[in-house]
Amino acid sequence: MQTVLITGAASGIGRDTAHLFASAGWQCVLVDRNAQALEKVVRSLPAHGSATHLPRVIDLTDRQQMASLAQGTPALDAIVNNAGMTEPSTLPLIEQTPEQLQRLLALNLSAPAAVVDACSGLLHPGARVVNVSSGAGLAAIPWRGAYSPSKAGLIAQTMALAQARPDLCVTVLAPGFVRTELVESLIQSGRLVPEGAVAKIPLGRMAAPAEMARALFFLASAGAWPFRGQILALNGGSSISGASRPYAPTTIDTLPLDWPVKLDVRGDNAELWGTWAETSARPVGSEGVTSYEACLDVSALSAPAGGLLQAVHLAATRFAGRHDQQASLTVLLPSRAATRWQDAGDAAAARMLVSTLACEWGALALRINAVEVPEGIDPSQLHPLLAYVCGPAAQYLTGQTLICQGAASGPAA
Ligand code: NAI
Repeated sequence: MQTVLITGAASGIGRDTAHLFASAGWQCVLVDRNAQALEKVVRSLPAHGSATHLPRVIDLTDRQQMASLAQGTPALDAIVNNAGMTEPSTLPLIEQTPEQLQRLLALNLSAPAAVVDACSGLLHPGARVVNVSSGAGLAAIPWRGAYSPSKAGLIAQTMALAQARPDLCVTVLAPGFVRTELVESLIQSGRLVPEGAVAKIPLGRMAAPAEMARALFFLASAGAWPFRGQILALNGGSSISGASRPYAPTTIDTLPLDWPVKLDVRGDNAELWGTWAETSARPVGSEGVTSYEACLDVSALSAPAGGLLQAVHLAATRFAGRHDQQASLTVLLPSRAATRWQDAGDAAAARMLVSTLACEWGALALRINAVEVPEGIDPSQLHPLLAYVCGPAAQYLTGQTLICQGAASGPAA
């Protein structure tokens, strides 16, 4: 049995994440300052074997309370630093007091570091630390006080932790809009207009908390090791879109996140990259769409120098010829430096082609992502990552290039 510590587990993303881990047989240490809500979550979790889930009522911004976090906490396989808050007032930044700024920074930026410090001695070698930042850490959201600065700081802090602790698998999730209590309260108070938010999202919808839970579950698993030190921007494509026209709300329902996947692998050595689909195959559902159609195209790995953009375009054209809606294309790109400067724009052009296609395809729930892989990597190391990116659990992921590393240092998955 593996053990995970999740902060902010009494509500929203944290609560769904706790349910997913518990359903998968993990022991959960759940931290929140809201005792009543936390107790309710713990009581509702499925239990496996003899280990029980542990509620820890702690204010993560209170130094004295934090001193007790490690006491009685078992050895950990993963930490999910999820607790966070937005600024309750709509005051412009220059009218905010240092105390107001500090309140957000204490929870969103300092607390994740304090949790890792407090639990450092409890982490197994190769353990995963996942921080929950926000799209607001990638692009500024005004009139939310220090929210964007605190989340940008958390992304940078995550990268620094990944460098400082190469024995751990440290990653950061940057969610777009998720329909949680936090977002509902912004909508109720008129501070967030859902139609306006959705108009900037190529996939034409906000995410469900369960979609973030799936991402956190993947990032907290041993299979995330090749993705260490990276950011997962899970936002329906909003961070990669520069469109000047609004996107229409989608009319396509999201499929269940554990729907069976039907995988089609294209390119040289296809069988090496796609074997995970056989092992994860389950009986096909009975009504409506029977499987989530996914294509993994590895042909760009054998593209000639300067030929990446053309290879991705060909893969996209093939894919679009076979799928008219709700499917995913994942292209593998080689991560190698161009040998001639004249070819140096090709990889960036290929990555931007992926983003541009995602913007054009979003209304049809057709997703496209790239995974950049080091030369000579054993394909089996990437199977968990590919299963997540290609499959229905990642239905909110589009337009991204995910950078992978080999097993260079630290424990392999
Ligand atoms: P939420 O407000 O539903 O849940 C936050 C939880 O953190 C609550 O249970 C709350 O009691 C707990 N908490 C707050 N302050 C605490 C403290 N000082 N000590 C201990 N626990 C504390 O929030 P939601 O929406 O689930 O967000 C989770 C994370 O995801 C946050 O870090 C948020 O910034 C981030 N996020 C959320 C997005 C969204 O659209 N909902 C978008 C992008 C990021």
